[in-house]
Formats: sequence, structure tokens, C-alpha cells
Amino acid sequence: MSYQWPLALALHQLGTLIWIGGMFFAHFVLRPAATSRLGPPDRLPLMLAVFDRFFPLVWVSIVLLWGSGLWLFLGLAGGKVGVHVHAMMGVAALMTLIFTYIWFLPYRALGRAVAQADWPTAGGRLALIRRLIATNLTLGVVTALLGAAGPALSAAMRFA
Ligand code: HEM
Repeated sequence: MSYQWPLALALHQLGTLIWIGGMFFAHFVLRPAATSRLGPPDRLPLMLAVFDRFFPLVWVSIVLLWGSGLWLFLGLAGGKVGVHVHAMMGVAALMTLIFTYIWFLPYRALGRAVAQADWPTAGGRLALIRRLIATNLTLGVVTALLGAAGPALSAAMRFA
């Protein structure tokens, strides 16, 4: 067996860890801690600064996941994959669309509102980003589980 399959899987795992792990930390750790300690004039610029650093890394993860995923799927497996990979691609496409929406709309609007110290508008944009990140986090966990348990599930479906 060549080194290519493990290399592609390692790149795939790296993308998964950065994106899903980053969303998990932002949603369950950073956000509640910031909300409990800081008022809007401190919390909203802090969250914007966090997104300024995290969101470019999400683009890196998306490139890693799609690049390595298509390499595994089309290049190494020759398109012959279990149904779990098709499900993975579908959910990943939805997650990519949701992130693209966050990037171009509420994230930009949050930046403008923070620059103008318009805290009610900034709070509204942050609330929308929080809901969309929670959605992508749920979808991401499902996708990672599909990746981990998928080969066994697809094999079970073939022999059922
Ligand atoms: C958010 C997006 C994604 C996540 C979180 C994710 C996660 C995972 C995980 C955890 C694995 C198992 C890795 C292992 O066995 O060590 C995996 C495998 C795989 N993924 Fe993804 N993936 C995503 C997107 C994609 C995309 C877009 C494609 C294809 C274009 C893809 C194609 C594959 C393939 C072909 C495998 C190997 C499946 C097998 O061993 O049967 N993935 N993925």
C-alpha cells in the first residue's frame, strides 16, 4: 500500500481538527466565558478579533478537507466509495455554504458595527454568527462520525 492514502487521511484529519475543534472551543468555552465577564464594548471587539484569526484558518481547513477528500475519493479510491462518503460530501457542501455566508454577510456586518461602536447591531450579528456556528458544529460532528464509523456502516449495508 502506498503512502498516499495515509497522507491524504492525515491532511483530512488536520482539516477536521482545526475546523471542528475551533468551533467547539469558541462555542462552549470562549463565548460563555466572555459573556460572563465582559460587557458589549469589550466582548464584541474581542469576538471580532477571535474571528479575524479563526476564520482564515477555517478557509485553510476547507481547502484541506475538499482537497484531501477529493484526492481520496476520485484519485485513490477511483470513485468506488461507500455511501458514507457521499453523505459526508453532502453535509460538507452544506457546511461550506453556511461558512461562506457567515464570511460574506454577518462577519462583515459585525466588523462595520464594531468600528462604529454600534453595540446593538454588533450584538445582533454576533448572535446570528453564534447560531450558524452551532449549526455547523452539529453538522461537523455528524460528518466526523460518518468518517469514523462510515466504513463499517457501509460494509454492513452491503451485506445486509
Ligand atoms: C467537514 C467536512 C469533513 C469532515 C469533518 C470529514 C471527516 C472525515 C473523517 C473523520 C474521516 C475518517 C478518517 C480516518 O479514517 O482516519 C473521513 C474520511 C473520508 N472522507 Fe471526509 N470529512 C469531510 C469532508 C469530506 C469531503 C468534502 C470529501 C470528499 C470530497 C471527503 C471524503 C472522505 C473520504 C473518501 C474518506 C475515506 C473514507 C473511508 O475510509 O471509507 N470528506 N472524513
